Amino acid sequence: MIFIKSLGLLLCLIFALVKGDNVVVGYFPNWLGDRFQASSIDFAKYTHINYAFAIMTKGNTPEWTDQSSTDSQLAELVSAAHKSSAKVLISVGGWSGSISFSTMASDASSRKEFIKWNIDQIKQYETDDWEYPGRQGAGCNVVDAGSDVANFGTLLKELRSELDQEFDKGSKEITIAGHVGGPGGSSNDIGDSVTRVNMMTYDINGAWNPQTGPNAPLKSSNGSSFVSAIEEWTKSGVPASKLVGGLAFYGRSTTAKEDMSDGSMYQDQVQNDPPKGDSYDATYQDPYCAQDPGGLSGIWRFGNMLSEGLLDTPLTAKVPWVRYWDDESSTPWLFNAKTKVFISYDDPKSIAAKVSEAKSSGLAGVMIWSVDEDSSNNDLLNAAT
Ligand SMILES: *[C@@H]1O[C@H](CO)[C@@H](O)[C@H](O)[C@H]1NC(C)=O
Repeated sequence: MIFIKSLGLLLCLIFALVKGDNVVVGYFPNWLGDRFQASSIDFAKYTHINYAFAIMTKGNTPEWTDQSSTDSQLAELVSAAHKSSAKVLISVGGWSGSISFSTMASDASSRKEFIKWNIDQIKQYETDDWEYPGRQGAGCNVVDAGSDVANFGTLLKELRSELDQEFDKGSKEITIAGHVGGPGGSSNDIGDSVTRVNMMTYDINGAWNPQTGPNAPLKSSNGSSFVSAIEEWTKSGVPASKLVGGLAFYGRSTTAKEDMSDGSMYQDQVQNDPPKGDSYDATYQDPYCAQDPGGLSGIWRFGNMLSEGLLDTPLTAKVPWVRYWDDESSTPWLFNAKTKVFISYDDPKSIAAKVSEAKSSGLAGVMIWSVDEDSSNNDLLNAAT
């Protein structure tokens, strides 16, 4: 499966009602069905839940793929969250749901229509999400590399001003989720209009690469990382106090070509053909984009690594898996010498290292993809908060 992981810009806008210090933002994917109920979320630990995604596959306004299930699921989520004063936001766009975003943002009357859609729904808490403007997502996004970032800045400004007119000034937050590589230019317009940038500091290495490597490195000498994302975004004009560090509650598996038992995390691997991940992993075909080849993801949710017998405890592997620790990226990885399957993932130790970096760098907090993927004991969430 091809993931274009160049240093693209991945943005999402989120409107919330209240600004909190030390935010803990958790994504709640709306396609989980019975597998994960909103009531399972530990709302005492989260300040914001992003309900993802309403998609933009055509036209100027987002849509829900299943309106009636959204109505009931979102109502349940909002009511449970409010009991703990957590905010619920609606996230728009995503990897395959950002096809017409660029076109909308390029035209004043289209932006107006989009902003009106947002204001109409904001009573239920609302989010917009524009992924990879000026770059490609699943393969079908309309992309205008020269103008997308500027158009996005204009959209944000107009949104800020409309929200301040429609509601108490400053009472709605606008946050965006940004790519690990920074915005790809000056983001002063973006930085001024938003309350926070949630940095997507994961999906940095995977089956799309020729070599194995960390999904979510804290640091890297030759690639993007948690630390480099902070550098890129601050360099582009967004202060650290507006940045939120992304945490992955999942790992990515690939098949190595070498025996990795010598303990080096970087080895040649079978490219673009990950093995099946956990029991939830299934062959996927993007319904909105034939260019997206789909296939298995190779993803292992942390909770499933424990429940499906890869880990004995959050910090120890179960035979035949062997756990290794990579010092530079501050991440653990598993290797099965018999199948040559490699899994890069995060555990309580690597999550704690990133949270500590977020604190010492003065970030606004952390963001988690996704709330359903933790162990039943919330080992990762507890390490993150
Ligand atoms: C990145 O650095 C690691 C060592 O830190 C090395 O093993 C790996 O081969 C490098 N990858 C590339 C693509 O240069």
